[in-house]
Amino acid sequence: MQNYWNRRFAKEGRIWGSSPSRTALQAMEFFRKEGVRKILIPGSGYGRHSDFFAANGFAVHGIEVSDVAIGLSTFPNTLVRHFRGSVLDMPFNDELYDAVYCFNVLHLFRDSDRRTIIGKCAAQVRSGGVLFFTVFSEREPTYGKGQKVEENTFESKPGRPTHYFTHEDLKDHFSAFAVLETGLIEDEENHGDEGPHVHLLRYIAARRT
Ligand SMILES: C[S@@+](CC[C@H](N)C(=O)[O-])C[C@H]1O[C@@H](n2cnc3c(N)ncnc32)[C@H](O)[C@@H]1O
Repeated sequence: MQNYWNRRFAKEGRIWGSSPSRTALQAMEFFRKEGVRKILIPGSGYGRHSDFFAANGFAVHGIEVSDVAIGLSTFPNTLVRHFRGSVLDMPFNDELYDAVYCFNVLHLFRDSDRRTIIGKCAAQVRSGGVLFFTVFSEREPTYGKGQKVEENTFESKPGRPTHYFTHEDLKDHFSAFAVLETGLIEDEENHGDEGPHVHLLRYIAARRT
């Protein structure tokens, strides 16, 4: 996984540009209502969302497996810190966060790893804190491409799974939490050989009770 992402970031740089996904704006409104100050971002990449939240006054810690991605982060702000390591090896400190924002990372893992990651995120959120995750939905145009390895999970290359979440499936992953909202959201991207395209993501907002 680390080699794949390092190679990709080395070749394509700041792949998704510097603007945040529109889901980050939605998450920020939610976080403000919840009085969030400190956010954990698992799979933070080169920090486009860390930068966005920091520029809006939140303190942010990211966890990122690719050192190349971390090297591409630019925001000169003491409000941001990136830890180099795998989300599967969290925690990297003993802090508790008010919120987790996790954009398009969870679907990159098989079932047992996905549940481990959610559990590890929850353990780093204070009681009453909140989580906002986005993932690929089963309506993504790439659904079904590659070798099926688990339910709704396909590997485009061996060892590189993509899981496509249905509504029920996503709720099931977060059944240990109070689910506040879920939905589908279109997210435009324009990068690499693919050019402009639209992802059909699912999001979930939940509270640790
Ligand atoms: C689709 S990208 C999303 C990046 C970032 N969330 C964004 O929107 O800019 C997935 C990210 O997860 C990171 N990643 C993949 N596996 C990881 C792991 N086991 N631990 C931490 N980060 C990981 C990748 O390096 C990459 O930065």
